[in-house]
Amino acid sequence: MRIAVVGTGYVGLVVGACFAETGNDVVCVDRDAAKIRMLRRGQIPIYEPGLEELVRRNRAEKRLTFSTTLPDAVRKAEVVFIAVGTPTGEDGSADLQHVLAAAREIGRAMTGYTVVVDKSTVPAGTAARVREAIGRETPHPFSVVSNPEFLKQGAAVEDFLKPDRVVIGADDDRAATTMRDLYRPFTRTGAPIMVMDTTSAELCKYAANAMLATRISFMNEVANVCERFGADVDKVRQAIASDRRIGPAFLFPGIGYGGSCFPKDVKAVIKFATDKRYRFRILEAVETVNESQKLRLLERLDGHFGKSLKGKTIALWGLAFKPRTDDMREAPSIAIIKGILARGGKVRAFDPVARAVAKKLFGSKITYARNAYDAAKGADALLLVTEWNEFREPDFARVRRVMRSPVLIDGRNLYDPAQIRSLGFTYASIGRP
Ligand SMILES: NC(=O)c1ccc[n+]([C@@H]2O[C@H](COP(=O)([O-])OP(=O)(O)OC[C@H]3O[C@@H](n4cnc5c(N)ncnc54)[C@H](O)[C@@H]3O)[C@@H](O)[C@H]2O)c1
Repeated sequence: MRIAVVGTGYVGLVVGACFAETGNDVVCVDRDAAKIRMLRRGQIPIYEPGLEELVRRNRAEKRLTFSTTLPDAVRKAEVVFIAVGTPTGEDGSADLQHVLAAAREIGRAMTGYTVVVDKSTVPAGTAARVREAIGRETPHPFSVVSNPEFLKQGAAVEDFLKPDRVVIGADDDRAATTMRDLYRPFTRTGAPIMVMDTTSAELCKYAANAMLATRISFMNEVANVCERFGADVDKVRQAIASDRRIGPAFLFPGIGYGGSCFPKDVKAVIKFATDKRYRFRILEAVETVNESQKLRLLERLDGHFGKSLKGKTIALWGLAFKPRTDDMREAPSIAIIKGILARGGKVRAFDPVARAVAKKLFGSKITYARNAYDAAKGADALLLVTEWNEFREPDFARVRRVMRSPVLIDGRNLYDPAQIRSLGFTYASIGRP
């Protein structure tokens, strides 16, 4: 099939590359000319495991191309995916300006029947608005499909190639058949393709993210209660995770969720429920808990050093909102760095891949270390922020040697408290005695 993907970000690039991989002709469009130039040179603008190889192979086979001109790409396409950003608007709602602008442009460029697919995460009822926006611009027939994306950054390629399920919201059979054909290669192992109305499909994505965010905030609250009783949240987590009704995923306490999806999607659900005069009280609490959880490491620093960090250097291991990505959108590290700087402290940070992104955010306000030990050098405390694999078993004797004072605050419960203390560290984590 001939496909155009509008928006070549974390989602659009993965979607485009994966559809090219199954033999389709894909043009990925973005209005960011610098991004397209990089991709045309064979460079990948984001860090995502496995993506570079996929893009290289499909570019070489000429199945995957990149463009800044949407009309050219859309004119030839049978299916057009909208994968632009839907950031939080001023009132907390998902800002649809990019989606609707893309829809209008697609409408103007179409030359015959086209399936237009909302891949971006959009509130219930958006398919109707996209339909209207396109309809005003074109005399040609078209279908609008809602096809929410469930991939997770850090494992996006694998998630897309082997989905748990594919959700297709289609209000007509022709579009549903096209979408089934497109996804068949990815569902041969039996993953279901679930076809439903567009509004239900739109809600699937928000319900999934809201549920996952709820589990995280719930476990963070359990951890906070454990701390007050001197209980061990790890033991509690393992016990409830083995209950088949609960399961093990998304039960790790830490310093709150971040990233480009959970924070904005939770806000969006609260807002669109409110617009329908429904108060989504659980999600209001999920958000409040998350905001305070992001500050837990700062509270720990306050407990140790008092309110001022003047003359102190704090090392950070990890900046990305989670491992295996360079994405720092809404990352807890941002609130932590701002808090340290506001207390007069200095930050020495190391992240295996997020350095360039962090530089755009913090410039020369913090120091960027070459590796984990370099970050710890001369530090008065070390904060474990992102649980990258390479931080799991460092040479603690070396870390202790290079630090000015051996204070380790573990925001991800990565280490064994007894072992770390036996090495001479003052150690604190989340919800463990
Ligand atoms: N990042 C994820 O893990 C993830 C997962 C599932 C769903 N989503 C959803 O997918 C959507 C995209 O997310 P993302 O993380 O890929 O965003 P992103 O910011 O990485 O990429 C969006 C891209 O769209 C481009 N763009 C915006 N308007 C455009 C236009 N009119 N024409 C051409 N290009 C345009 C931007 O330049 C940018 O490169 C969002 O709705 C998000 O909620 C994201």
